Amino acid sequence: MKAVAVTPGTPNSVHLKEIEKPTLDQVAGGLGVLVRVLKVGVDATDREINDALYGNAPEGDGHLVIGHESFGVVEAVGEHVKRVKVGDYVTATVRRPGGSIYDLIGTNDMTSEEEYYERGINLRHGYLTEYFVEEAEYIVRVPMGLKHLHVLMEPMSCAAKAVHQAYEAQQRMKVWRPQVAYVLGAGQIGLLTTLVLKLRGLEVYTLARGEAPNLKSEIVKGLEATYISTRETSWDDLVKQTGKPDLIVDATGSSRLAFEAMEHLGLNGVLVWTGITGGDNKSEVPTDKINLQWVLGNKLLLGSVNANRHHFEMGIKDLALGEMMYPEVLGKILTNPVDGLENYAEMMRLLVEDKDALKVFVNVADE
Ligand code: BGC
Ligand code: ZN
Repeated sequence: MKAVAVTPGTPNSVHLKEIEKPTLDQVAGGLGVLVRVLKVGVDATDREINDALYGNAPEGDGHLVIGHESFGVVEAVGEHVKRVKVGDYVTATVRRPGGSIYDLIGTNDMTSEEEYYERGINLRHGYLTEYFVEEAEYIVRVPMGLKHLHVLMEPMSCAAKAVHQAYEAQQRMKVWRPQVAYVLGAGQIGLLTTLVLKLRGLEVYTLARGEAPNLKSEIVKGLEATYISTRETSWDDLVKQTGKPDLIVDATGSSRLAFEAMEHLGLNGVLVWTGITGGDNKSEVPTDKINLQWVLGNKLLLGSVNANRHHFEMGIKDLALGEMMYPEVLGKILTNPVDGLENYAEMMRLLVEDKDALKVFVNVADE
């Protein structure tokens, strides 16, 4: 069967590769699930892996099959699988356990080992192929009524985790009633985080560069949040208008903006960083000012990566509620389909060149 792979360490090595179709018996104990892949989403991580900024092949292999945002249909299950059945729509989590205590309790996303295993990213093959086999533990059912949002399940799990972690951490306050939140960036994570925060009842301001109206501002408006173009409104003007935010989630992929956000967080607030970049940018930061504000304001900076099955389930519930509250808004994120694995070059071109491509995904197979 066909798969889209890279040669880790070699820039721009994305290619089509013939690989073996996996079989159920590759998972012990009758717990395997064979998934026929329907769609796979790609994002900046795939672009940066193809740029050889990070990403490693599984031990013994020279290639890495990419793609970590999966959507498919169950084709066969092992005899002890209870969670899903043939014909169910499913997605799969990304990170696989290492050996730390966090991995042993199913929170692989919190591993305390330096080395981590992520399908399609690091040391494990991904989903940009025709079939994959996985242990039932890592397969998450997607409700039939959400199948039109297919590849959003994985990015949504990251948004769900980021917000959940913020609330968990803020239990330090005993009472925390956040009112104003800023979301930095209106890419897929920014928009999905906007939804999660709206569903928690916050007043949400989503900041992005482009001037409204544009597709991103339309989606933000559709979610009953407020879109702010940073070209039109400065940080200071926005803070004057809204008061300092209780919560800021950075999803820009710009480390400069992630640090800049530190100057604007409210007292007792939390800033969550979700974006990463494999780059090596440097910029000047007003360290005295931030140091003083953060100590005198009891502020918290939190990094959040990946998501475990619990966050996938939370995210899927929020997508379902989001569809009821704001019908047909979330589907607008799915802007750029590419037909067939063999069109991988077009997929990468969209990721690299098309700044308006909010979400690129591959239609791998029809139902
Ligand atoms: C993925 C996460 C992953 C992170 C770091 C993101 O693009 O969505 O699942 O943990 O990259 O590799
Ligand atoms: Zn991703």
